[in-house]
Amino acid sequence: MNVLNRLRAAFGAVTPEGGDPRAFGSAVRPANDPKFGDYQANGCMALAKSIQKNPRELAASVREAVDLEPIAGKPEVAGPGFLNVRLHDEWISQRLADLLDDDRQGLTAPESVRTVVIDFSSPNVAKPMHVGHIRSTVIGDSLARIFEGLGHKVVRDNHMGDWGSQFGMILWGWKTARDEAAFAADPVTELARLYRLAQSRIKGGDKAVEDAARAETVKLHAGDPENRELWSRFMPACLAALQKVYDRLGVRFDVELGESFYDPMLAAVVADLEAKGIAEESEGATVAFVPGMKAPLIIRKRDGAYNYGTTDLATIRYREQTWDPDQVLYVVDTRQGDHFKQLFDVARRWGYDGAALEHVAFGTILGADRKPFKTRDGDVVGLESLLDEAVVEARKVVDANSPQLDDDERARVAEIVGLGAIKYADLSQNRLSDYVFDWSKMLAMHGNTATYLQYAYARIQGIFRRGEVRPEDVRGRRPRVLVSHPAERALGVRLLRLPEILELAADEMKPNVLTDHLFELANAYSTFYEECPVLKAESDERRDSRLALCDLTARTLKLGLNLLGIDVVDRM
Ligand code: ARG
Repeated sequence: MNVLNRLRAAFGAVTPEGGDPRAFGSAVRPANDPKFGDYQANGCMALAKSIQKNPRELAASVREAVDLEPIAGKPEVAGPGFLNVRLHDEWISQRLADLLDDDRQGLTAPESVRTVVIDFSSPNVAKPMHVGHIRSTVIGDSLARIFEGLGHKVVRDNHMGDWGSQFGMILWGWKTARDEAAFAADPVTELARLYRLAQSRIKGGDKAVEDAARAETVKLHAGDPENRELWSRFMPACLAALQKVYDRLGVRFDVELGESFYDPMLAAVVADLEAKGIAEESEGATVAFVPGMKAPLIIRKRDGAYNYGTTDLATIRYREQTWDPDQVLYVVDTRQGDHFKQLFDVARRWGYDGAALEHVAFGTILGADRKPFKTRDGDVVGLESLLDEAVVEARKVVDANSPQLDDDERARVAEIVGLGAIKYADLSQNRLSDYVFDWSKMLAMHGNTATYLQYAYARIQGIFRRGEVRPEDVRGRRPRVLVSHPAERALGVRLLRLPEILELAADEMKPNVLTDHLFELANAYSTFYEECPVLKAESDERRDSRLALCDLTARTLKLGLNLLGIDVVDRM
């Protein structure tokens, strides 16, 4: 059950005259400080101002009118006109007892199931994945898990760049400098070498190479048999290399329709846009102007080639026809903001306005020097080596903290802790901001890290081991969950909040709403653990009640981390 929404509905229903029930209801927030109760309705101040009434009097009248039973009693008027809501202890106990038997952790089916296409990861395939690919991959995967966790239908779509100019560069490299033996031994490394060779020549100002590479791309697109044949030969190796990284990260897709898939549709897209008067000729190219924006969306270049945006338009049409989505999320770097603004505007005028198209933008990963994260030699950081390094760093932490585990187990834990640290460091940022990559911060045992949460989880498993009791035994005894101690109560209220947190995270498309919650949950647990003896509780009833709180905390941490794509371990 979503407690916040229930309270918002109750306050919305008694909105004083002159107010907007939606705005008035949504001014209910979780309280920052338990002194002010569990939730706070803050709508009276703004409304009082706009209808020129005394805010405290207005709050008093809302207090009389609102009915929060059985969740809470009458709210309390406080300060300049706040209404503080305190949940009934008995109600909290009841809900926690219900949660014990609920493997959906309080999540109920949504009122209306939405179909959400998530376009994420979407790398350009002919070069190895690098650090820049983490954010889209990890944020997109987490959003997919969160939407699915809420009961929506998700289509995970990896819109790979498998048709772009980088293939022209590789084709040029292949034809001028290939090493067949090296390709046979390790195709991706050889292709990467050829790509880098072309790249460095072009960067160095070699116009001839640039033109030759472009000509190879044009030939590929035009259907040249040799280039098509080479493309079909290169692709499986490129895809296998990507798949290796996805498998390691535990990321999967429902469809992987790269740009090449849409190539046969592009001519018709351009023709249709021209026929509808949305695209026009400009300086030899075909473009769609967008009101308020200087540059148009180019859909056919002067040389006849189609563009990134042309493919994106074809993709919008295909997705609409195939899945009829309610929402399409593009998890892509902020720097492509203008592209998506143009794209969405053109799509809407083209008639594809059924789905909400949203650019889920994110900032850049920075190095310690606050410049985009590079290796010491100034190269982009390869994704695989970064993951390896994460595991090496995590291994140091595991070795130091868990000498009791054997070697294999420590290696297994280090993989989970290392990958968890990288993912969590990314997901716990407001996705719009840039952030500085810092091993020691992301692997800290205390603070807002995956390591801290994984450790809290493992500690709870340790309590069950030491008490020689299994969570299902406690559940089977149907204990009452007591919340008379403030630390028990604070933990209990947190545990009930998961459904509302996930809805907020989904609405804002921000996994950090979930990470913040899990961090607060682990903190509440830590206070509880310090103040409330569990195995040595004063009575069997208390002991079971506290074990139940431990169990619920562990299950919530595990589910929450799973929705971030992060695993837990029983010992660390
Ligand atoms: N391949 C693109 C890049 O690496 C990202 C694609 C994002 N998705 C899309 N539909 N445009 O920049």
